[in-house]
Amino acid sequence: MDVFHIDGGVRLEGRLRVNGSKNAALPLMAAALLTDKPVTLRDVPGLADIRNMVSLLGELGCEGELTEPADASEPSVLSLHTRDETSSHARYDVVRTMRASVCILGPVLARRGAARVSMPGGCAIGDRPIDLHLRGLEALGAHISLDSGDVVARVPNFAQGGRLRGATIFLGGSFGSTVLGTANVMSAATLAEGTTTIESAACEPEVVDLAKLLTSMGARIEGAGSPRIVVHGVESLAGADHTVIPDRIEAATFMAAAAITRGSLTLENCPVDALLAVTDCLGHIGVGISVGPHETDPMRVTCRVSPADRLAPVQITTQPYPGFPTDAQAQLMALVALADGNSVITEKIFPERFLHVAELTRMGARLLRQGSTVVVSGVGGLTGAPVMASDLRASAGLVLAGLAAKGRTTINRVYHLDRGYERLEERLERVGARITRAKSEELVAA
Ligand code: UD1
Repeated sequence: MDVFHIDGGVRLEGRLRVNGSKNAALPLMAAALLTDKPVTLRDVPGLADIRNMVSLLGELGCEGELTEPADASEPSVLSLHTRDETSSHARYDVVRTMRASVCILGPVLARRGAARVSMPGGCAIGDRPIDLHLRGLEALGAHISLDSGDVVARVPNFAQGGRLRGATIFLGGSFGSTVLGTANVMSAATLAEGTTTIESAACEPEVVDLAKLLTSMGARIEGAGSPRIVVHGVESLAGADHTVIPDRIEAATFMAAAAITRGSLTLENCPVDALLAVTDCLGHIGVGISVGPHETDPMRVTCRVSPADRLAPVQITTQPYPGFPTDAQAQLMALVALADGNSVITEKIFPERFLHVAELTRMGARLLRQGSTVVVSGVGGLTGAPVMASDLRASAGLVLAGLAAKGRTTINRVYHLDRGYERLEERLERVGARITRAKSEELVAA
């Protein structure tokens, strides 16, 4: 198992390119199951989750090849082509390693008339039900049952020409909407008979990117990015060539990395338009964010992050887009652990998503958790310590803390980070961080 050793206290300086978004890419890849024509996706990050998805698509008869250019500044190309539509089963072994496997459900069901997907279990950040995905597909006319831990979905009379039927579907829950649930229902509705209206749809940029790909495949979709999405079903979809949006969470992580080390980073391919809640928050903390001209595309600008004289405390509440993203909560907690005063962070999407709290405390942060809220009393400095990565974004928070801490931080189980950040240590090293990857013989407590 790999570990990161970080010798903290170095200001980061230089340029970094923000890669294509993992969370956008996964449902885009699943959309290739909606057609038997080739789909090309550009700027897909070379991550473990992407490779897992390629192998899941392979099991479902969709061939995938990821070409990573020799020059790391050039975007990668993922070619997908569904050639065999006989299998419709996403097995437990795959779904267990990657919850996002669930996003094949809508495409496979709509195109093949049946899908069997192992029910995803909970994960480190809490229970993660898929009831809304299933309710949405049921509203489109699918029959859903549970068999040996698998969700089995069927389109009635598919062999006789039966299709999913357009419907009005409410996808809201007590926390807002569901991102992958919206992706699943929207994808399935593209091949349904008639018009589907998704109310309380997720407004996240990843949903907009999926709608863009589906539209270029021939789907008829209105309103993506708003809480009401209308899909007029079509008979079939064609292939397409699409560039994935840049990763807003990676960009937010790099911004926080610059801020916590009191450094300056210039971020290229930065989706500032999708990051207003984060840049607004960083502004209140005192971090300078200046954005280059964006006549062509506000999702791909150059953005400069410059240091704060003093880190001011803030109040952060995670919310559905365009609110503050839950996926950047741990990183900002690490940052305000060094603020001059008390900050309050409330998690409204995944109330249990606080595994980083105990680890940051080991590094000297002063954190008091009460349910889904953490009061962060800023301290003058953090100290390096061995810590344990527990989930992807919690691990990113620990890396940031390690970059700022005095002395050495060793982060165990960096495979969590590798799921979401491509060659993170190489990229941070390029802008001055003293960070190395090493093998560890981890001691597992009895
Ligand atoms: C996606 C992102 C994840 C991000 C999350 C919230 C991917 C691969 N993952 O996950 O990084 O943290 O959005 O922005 O894109 N819920 C239900 N029933 C459902 C579905 C969800 O109750 O059927 C609840 C969840 O428990 C959670 C909330 O809805 O409290 C939001 O979850 P959701 O938007 O579905 O997250 P994902 O799409 O799984």
